[in-house]
Amino acid sequence: MGILALALQIAGAGNLNGKDSDESQGIARVEKAQVALYTSDPGNLWNRLHHALHVRVGPDGREYGAERLDPLLWSSTTHLRNGPSYERARAVMEEFLSTRGERQIEDPQKRALLQRGLWAVFDWYVSWPYWHAGGDAVSKAVQPAFAARLAEIIRGVALTPEQIQKLPDNYVAAIAAKEFAAQYDSNQPSKPFLPPDLLYPGSSWIRLGQEWGETVAPQHLSEFGGRSVFLVFIRLPGSLRMTAQYLERVEKLKRPNEELPQFPAGTQVALVRRMLLVDSQGHLRVSPLVESVQIRVYAEVPGKDGRRRNVEETRKQQSVFEFVLDRAKLFRGKAGGLHAIETTESDFMTFQTHGFDPFESKQAGQGEFVKGQFPMLLQCFVCHSGSGVVSIRSRLSLGFDDDHSGLGEAQKTMRWKQQRYEWGLLQGIGYGTHSAPRD
Ligand code: HEC
Repeated sequence: MGILALALQIAGAGNLNGKDSDESQGIARVEKAQVALYTSDPGNLWNRLHHALHVRVGPDGREYGAERLDPLLWSSTTHLRNGPSYERARAVMEEFLSTRGERQIEDPQKRALLQRGLWAVFDWYVSWPYWHAGGDAVSKAVQPAFAARLAEIIRGVALTPEQIQKLPDNYVAAIAAKEFAAQYDSNQPSKPFLPPDLLYPGSSWIRLGQEWGETVAPQHLSEFGGRSVFLVFIRLPGSLRMTAQYLERVEKLKRPNEELPQFPAGTQVALVRRMLLVDSQGHLRVSPLVESVQIRVYAEVPGKDGRRRNVEETRKQQSVFEFVLDRAKLFRGKAGGLHAIETTESDFMTFQTHGFDPFESKQAGQGEFVKGQFPMLLQCFVCHSGSGVVSIRSRLSLGFDDDHSGLGEAQKTMRWKQQRYEWGLLQGIGYGTHSAPRD
């Protein structure tokens, strides 16, 4: 089966009324399971909180998600909404609040990462798509007191604006560690490389986008709930001038549907995800932490063929790379915490999957669960097929922005977030003057 067909099948196969698979099958394991992330003691409150919110148990009885940056929660997920997983998370949060757990760990990086996870869970939790369930299930799905506890801990571990600004730049750390090659090597097309100058002034890359107006990566913005800023960069082979001239040609196109000019083989594109945080005053702040870097290199640009459905064909034309922030590696001070995904690594798709939760797919069972884990570097071709410019999904037609740092993009992201329901709720119950709901 083609990868696209498989991905569509995965996306469309949701059992929307699924109940926690771990509620019924893996609960004993969950209670025994441990993580030693924030301290080496698995019994530490922060580790237990992380475990309660991030770990899922599959039908195979194994644990998933502890090391993953984004929680394994989809819009149809019922896990954490009721039953034992809900009770467990509620109890750990209660303990955290009553013992002032936020005082246990001072390290700003650890506080930032704990908050980031809680914030993702909060946004997911209060955005329950009620059309997935009826009647009673709706009222049980969002408990105000549960949301309030999440919000209170988000505030409890929040950093001051100065602390956020002073968080280490992990991209610089990754480059300084020299763990990854600095350049693409066409003789070893799957060898990860991290360009040293990507994010900094004087770069050989140009950032796509406009200072004002639309965002360059609207789909990532909304899929990741506006909790990260996404920046898109491009460089053509040869000089910076070539890239600039190419983008000028694109900018001159008047009609949005006009055919985009093709770029040559050797062109590289990158998508960088930077972490936003909520500061101690309840304001959004851009942090220096890079959460992921995705790069595609066009080894071949054969022509102007449209979206190819053939993965093998597309794979020959593009090399793909992904670096993801690994909390444990970051806390150990290794290469800025950036982990290069290997070709053999599989993971669940959480980006643009129509909300289907593979852990809760009862009728499909184990087979579907196994299929739900997809080689991460093959996932790219589900969405980026086609020759050269055809495979670009960002708003290339926006032209380029002279501000390499992406401040405008960050401001647009924050404005988008500030208008969201879940942001208003977080502000109201986490930072408002009213006391938080209790059950
Ligand atoms: C489910 C679809 C999907 C998958 C899977 C996916 N991307 Fe993308 N990607 C997009 C979309 C859509 C954009 C455009 C930005 C936006 O609107 O958010 C994009 C943008 C990008 C960009 C910026 C340049 C461009 O093409 O627009 C890069 C680089 C990129 N992705 C790399 C990757 C890599 C590497 C992988 C695999 C590890 C990957 N993507 C997997 C959908 C996807």
